[in-house]
Amino acid sequence: MSDFFLPPGFSRIDGVLHVEGLSLAEIAATHGTPCYVYSKAAMVAAYEEFVTAFAGLDPLICYAVKANGNLSILHLLSRLGAGFDIVSGGELSRVLAAGGDPGRVVFSGVGKSAAEMQQALQAGVLCFNVESPAELQRLSEVATGLNLTAPVSLRVNPDVDPGTHPYIATGLKESKFGIAYQDAFDLYRHAAQLPGIRLLGIDCHIGSQITELSPFVAALDKVLDLARRLAGAGITLHHLDLGGGVGIRYRAEAPLRLADYAHAVAERMGGSGLRLLLEPGRRIVGNSGLLLTRIEYLKSSPARRFAIVDAAMNDLIRPALYDAWHEIVPVQEGQGTPFPMDVVGPVCETGDILGSSRTLAVSAGDLLAILSAGAYGASMGSNYNARPRPTEILVDGHSARVIRRRETIPALFENEWPLDPPSSTS
Ligand code: LLP
Repeated sequence: MSDFFLPPGFSRIDGVLHVEGLSLAEIAATHGTPCYVYSKAAMVAAYEEFVTAFAGLDPLICYAVKANGNLSILHLLSRLGAGFDIVSGGELSRVLAAGGDPGRVVFSGVGKSAAEMQQALQAGVLCFNVESPAELQRLSEVATGLNLTAPVSLRVNPDVDPGTHPYIATGLKESKFGIAYQDAFDLYRHAAQLPGIRLLGIDCHIGSQITELSPFVAALDKVLDLARRLAGAGITLHHLDLGGGVGIRYRAEAPLRLADYAHAVAERMGGSGLRLLLEPGRRIVGNSGLLLTRIEYLKSSPARRFAIVDAAMNDLIRPALYDAWHEIVPVQEGQGTPFPMDVVGPVCETGDILGSSRTLAVSAGDLLAILSAGAYGASMGSNYNARPRPTEILVDGHSARVIRRRETIPALFENEWPLDPPSSTS
C-alpha cells in the first residue's frame, strides 16, 4: 500500500514512517501516544519559502501564533527573524516568554480588552490591527491614560469571497471581522484626529486555507486603492498587512505557489512606498506536524468498521468541527487485507471522528499517523472527557526533543476543589 501524500520532512524508510531521521515507532516507544510530532526542518523550510518568495518586498513575516503557539516553535521562528500576529494577551505573553521581539508583533482580533491593550502598549508592539470604531476609541483612551501612543492599522473588510469553509471565511461583509470597506476612509480621517493614536498601516485578512490567488489579489487591489485615496487626503501609511490565509495540501488541494503570490503583490505594491506584512500560520506549521496515535481496538458493527485509537477530537478537533480531511496512514506499512473503516477516538461523542471511511490494513496495537496536523491541532486542543493534552515532540535530524510534556491528570483539576474537603476515614 503506498502513501497518498507525505509532506516534506516525512518519509518511509524500510516500510516505517519517519520524521526526518527518526522512526515514529521509536518515538512512540519512548514517548507514548497520542503525541504530536513536528519536523523542525519542515517548519524552517516553510518559513524560508515566504522570506525567499517575498524578498524583493522586504516583508515582515508575522507568524500567526494561534496556529501553533508552542514556545519552542515561537522561539525557533523568532530566531529566524519572524514577527508574530497575536490575538490575545495570552499569545503576547507566549511570544515574550519565547524571546520574541514585541517590536515585530501585530495585535489582531475583534475583542481586545482594555487590559490587553495596556499590556501590548507597555510591551511596545509594532501595531494594533483595529477592527471597530468602538475599539479605536477605547485604544485612544487607554493609550492617553498611559501617556503612550498606539500605532494603528485599521483592519478593512474588503468583502471578498475566499472560497473556503464558511467557518474560516473572514472577509465577507456578513462576517464579524474588520471595518466595512465603505466606512474605512472616514474612520481613518477620524482616527487621524484622535489623541494617543498614530496611523501606521492598513490591514486585511480574508480567511484561511485559501488555495486560489484571485481572492488575495482582489483584496489587495481594494486595500491599495483605499491607501492611495488616504494618501491623497494627507494620511500617509507605512505598511500594508495582507493577513494570512495561504492554504496547504491536506488531500488533493493544489495550494497556490508563494512565488506567484509574491509576483502578484510586487506588481501591485511596487512603488507604493508601503512595507509588506504577512500573517501566515497554517502554511508554516500545518504540513510540518502529525498526530501519532495507537489503535486500541478494532470493532465492527453490522453497518461499519471502526479503528478506535487513543487520540480523539479533544486532541484534533478539525475533522469534527469543519469536516476537515487529514490523511491517516499506518506507521508500519500495512500487510494484511485493507478494509474501509472509521478512525474514531474514545471521547463520548458521535462526532469524535478523526477520519471516516479510510481504507486501512491494520490490527489492534498498530500506530497511525494523522498527517498535516501541525496547525490548529495542539492549539485547539481541549481537556474534554478529562483527557490530558498530548506530548509534543520536535524532531531535528536524528534527535527528538520534548517541547511540551504530556499533561498530568492532577494538572487538569489543580484550579478546582471539592465543596468540602474529602472526609478522612478514621
Ligand atoms: N491573521 C488573522 C487575523 C487571522 O485571524 C488568522 C487566522 C491568521 C492570520 C492566520 O491564518 P492562516 O495563515 O493560518 O490561514 N481553526 C481553523 C483556522 C482558523 C483561522 C483563524 N484565523 C482551522 O483549523 O482551519
